[in-house]
Amino acid sequence: MTKLTLRDLEVRGQRVLVRVDFNVSTEERDGHLAITDDTRIRESLPTINYLRENGAKTILMAHFGRPKGKPVEKYSLRPVADYLHTLINHPVAFSHETIGKIPEEIIDHMKEGDVTLLENVRFHPGEEANDPVFAEALAKLGDLYVNDAFGAAHRAHASTAGITKFVKQSAMGFLMEKEIQYLSHELTKPAKPFVVILGGSKVSDKIGVIKALMEKADSILIGGAMANTFWKAQGVRIGSSRVEADKLDLAREILELAKEKKVRFLLPVDALEAQKIEPGATARNTSRVMPEHGITDGWQAVDIGHATISLYEDEIAKAKTILWNGPVGIFEIPAFATGTIAIAEALARSKATTIIGGGDSVTAVKQAGLADKMTFISTGGGASLELIEGKELPGIAALSGRP
Ligand code: 3PG
Repeated sequence: MTKLTLRDLEVRGQRVLVRVDFNVSTEERDGHLAITDDTRIRESLPTINYLRENGAKTILMAHFGRPKGKPVEKYSLRPVADYLHTLINHPVAFSHETIGKIPEEIIDHMKEGDVTLLENVRFHPGEEANDPVFAEALAKLGDLYVNDAFGAAHRAHASTAGITKFVKQSAMGFLMEKEIQYLSHELTKPAKPFVVILGGSKVSDKIGVIKALMEKADSILIGGAMANTFWKAQGVRIGSSRVEADKLDLAREILELAKEKKVRFLLPVDALEAQKIEPGATARNTSRVMPEHGITDGWQAVDIGHATISLYEDEIAKAKTILWNGPVGIFEIPAFATGTIAIAEALARSKATTIIGGGDSVTAVKQAGLADKMTFISTGGGASLELIEGKELPGIAALSGRP
């Protein structure tokens, strides 16, 4: 690692400002906000516990939702403070102001091992604007800074990047380190064969990732609505399937690139097609889609078909490293989830290093109850894609370098 990590810091007795990503999924239950997926909070525990055990005063900063620079009650982090209290079995003080006298007073009363959570940093316009005045006001609350908010590391905001200019030392936390290890270092020279499964709806969202992985992957398996754009680019009928009609040239360019790089670039050979996309809708398996059958007029491709599942399972079985990003069907609807679950199961059976690169494929793996069978599951969305793509993330770039 070229950046300082938490282990490099002398934290005892110090006020350590830790940026975490507590942007968790929630739902309203009996007038309360219930956390439906606490993974991001749990994944920050190694950093928080290390700081507590080593006598630091831990001040947590986070964003929640997109309140656009002003206080919005439903985006308050207060429920997260209570939740964290139960996880670490130690009170978590909550400062309903993010900067200024109120948090200063709370922090003055902290003892070694204590934890305080500040209110949502995005309640201030200075956060997303990366305003140095706001960054300095945050920095004033601590002595050292740790960034463990991998999910927000692609944002150049005051609490993720600007703040580092106003603290003595800034380092990455344990979660950040782990994400970089799997999404960057492991993929630099992956054990071969290296198989990549890419799904989701848009080719345009994944273009950078596809191009970067083309340099290293042995096979790239495509699923999701993205496949429709590749089919259409080759003249296959796609019925009423979702497509990016303005990205056909891009799709052709990628197919050419795959030939040039000698990457096995596999598109689904059949699909599940449906007339309606709604809960309770039914689907049927098409015949081979390519070259001339396609998707029936008025129907839409909603999942990969049985033949594709076996084709992809064979590729996955041969792999030594597997990266998966994006579901291969509309898995939120049970009748269209077969392909995505089959991929999750194939990864769970594999002995390869299995890396789930963030976003909806993470939800799918969890829904299938297979999360503990994967080598690594990223907590990022956009940040994971940017890191896989090889981009420099502002939240990492801003940290102190190793001497
Ligand atoms: C995420 O949920 O992907 C991160 O917390 C970043 O959130 P944002 O997209 O609102 O910046």
